[in-house]
Amino acid sequence: MTDNAIEMRAITKRFPGVVANDSVDLTVRSGEIHALMGENGAGKSILMSQLAGIYRPDSGSIRINGKEVNFTNPLQAIDAGVGMVFQSFKLFPSLTIAENVVFRQEPTKRGIIDRRAAEAEVAAIAEKYGLQLDPSARVSEVPVGVLQRVEIVKALYRGAQILVLDEPTAVLTPQETEKLFEVLRALQADGRTIIIITHKLSEVLSISDRVTVLRDGKSIAEFNTKETTAAELTQAMTGRDVDLRQPAPKQPTGKTVLAVEQLTVAGTGRNAVDSASLTVRSGEIVGIAGVAGNGQVELAEAIMGMRPTLSGSVSVNGKTLDRASIAQRRDAGIAYIPEDRHAVGSAGSASAIDNLALGHHRHAPLLQRGLLSKQRLTEHAKRLISRFGVKIASPATPVGTLSGGNLQKVVVAREMDTESPLLIAEQPTRGVDIGAIAAIHRELTEYRDRGGALLLISAELSEIMSLASRILVMFEGRIVVELDRQEATEALIGLYMAGHSPDSVATEASDAAEANDTAVASDAAEASDATEASPAGGAQPA
Ligand SMILES: Nc1ncnc2c1ncn2[C@@H]1O[C@H](COP(=O)(O)OP(=O)(O)O)[C@@H](O)[C@H]1O
Ligand SMILES: [Mg+2]
Repeated sequence: MTDNAIEMRAITKRFPGVVANDSVDLTVRSGEIHALMGENGAGKSILMSQLAGIYRPDSGSIRINGKEVNFTNPLQAIDAGVGMVFQSFKLFPSLTIAENVVFRQEPTKRGIIDRRAAEAEVAAIAEKYGLQLDPSARVSEVPVGVLQRVEIVKALYRGAQILVLDEPTAVLTPQETEKLFEVLRALQADGRTIIIITHKLSEVLSISDRVTVLRDGKSIAEFNTKETTAAELTQAMTGRDVDLRQPAPKQPTGKTVLAVEQLTVAGTGRNAVDSASLTVRSGEIVGIAGVAGNGQVELAEAIMGMRPTLSGSVSVNGKTLDRASIAQRRDAGIAYIPEDRHAVGSAGSASAIDNLALGHHRHAPLLQRGLLSKQRLTEHAKRLISRFGVKIASPATPVGTLSGGNLQKVVVAREMDTESPLLIAEQPTRGVDIGAIAAIHRELTEYRDRGGALLLISAELSEIMSLASRILVMFEGRIVVELDRQEATEALIGLYMAGHSPDSVATEASDAAEANDTAVASDAAEASDATEASPAGGAQPA
């Protein structure tokens, strides 16, 4: 007999050119909530994919409840009681929630599918654990937070005793995250074992009983959550001490650089951007918060001229750009860090030298008698590579070979280097390691302090809260509210992100106050992250 639900021993999994898991050990006790933590690319998803029968280990062993297993497909893992909720959901949009949950295990009556029984069963599971959903709703019509609940119910319907969730909070508002954690606690109380993958310190500290940290494909450390600290976890995750203190937001005074008026962009069904107006001043960071897919990308692309608009106008430094091409907008002073750094942000087969020179072709310092100087371009690339800590063999290496985080640093470096009066940054730190996040944040605030105007679009609310002095929230294409940083709390922003209007937020005041407590608690955790992780010790969190 064993009290361990899962014992993964010396798991090694290679892909061409990478060792995704390098002799990893993971022990999860029965009935605990176990956090699997690590930076992007540490090997978390691959490790769990082997537990779920998606991949087979090259070597190593897996035991479930003491019994060795050798899954060759996901169905065997499900039979062994392992259910996994992936980062990208695998549901049929045209079917209802109930149909998706019971798919291929439908209850039948006299040989035909019993739809009513399916809906009743799905409703019963959902209700038991506090998962709010309507079994008869069509999957194409429900928001992403609900899709996640459907995946959880699906796993439970299939008898999951061990539930694995891969970065489940990435698509949730703070309130939805707190609700998910309540569901996980209810599942735990019912005797299930839970593994949650996350890279967020505050989440590990608030939900887990124990935590395993992966770094560079290896298991680095295992802690009882109560006995560890944010500093210790950060150290394990990154291999060094990281100063997580954030520079404080400051009040801008400069003139208006970007003015967007009543901008509307077509979408499928409703407008992707619906009559959005905003301004960004010199020396100011304006943040746009929102659940991904609410028009943020389309708004940025419309400002950049990459997407046609139905109506409205965009001007930079008083100059109207409505008929301007992308190149003309860049010349007018807009730099752009796009969300899709592969398709839009970089040329994969070109070297770092060429990628870092893009957009600089008309700039004097890199030209020699009207031609781009190879030597100057190389020196320019070397300077940026070192300033942004890009890990690359040589400036001549094609950027297509870089990891996601390093490619992101190349794009950020190039755009920040232009010293344009306006910078639009979409998810500037996505997929970047913690140390580099701090460095990029410093670059962004220094850019602001030099008088730059920054429009920051981020799905990481903590990033917006720590950098922006004004915060706009987008929902279904509209800017539903503008908040001063001082009046904004994560809980309040979360309500707007979920589609509440300013009126309904007022009536939800008591809920908000309650949610506020949790937000404050997690803020405090982050703040103590900062203090404890600071190499100097007792630094003041911002
Ligand atoms: N299907 C694949 N083919 C090749 N390499 C992969 C594949 N999936 C993941 N990797 C690589 O394995 C490593 C670990 O990835 P992953 O487990 O997804 O990391 P994370 O900790 O972010 O979940 C990364 O270097 C990643 O690029
Ligand atoms: Mg992953």
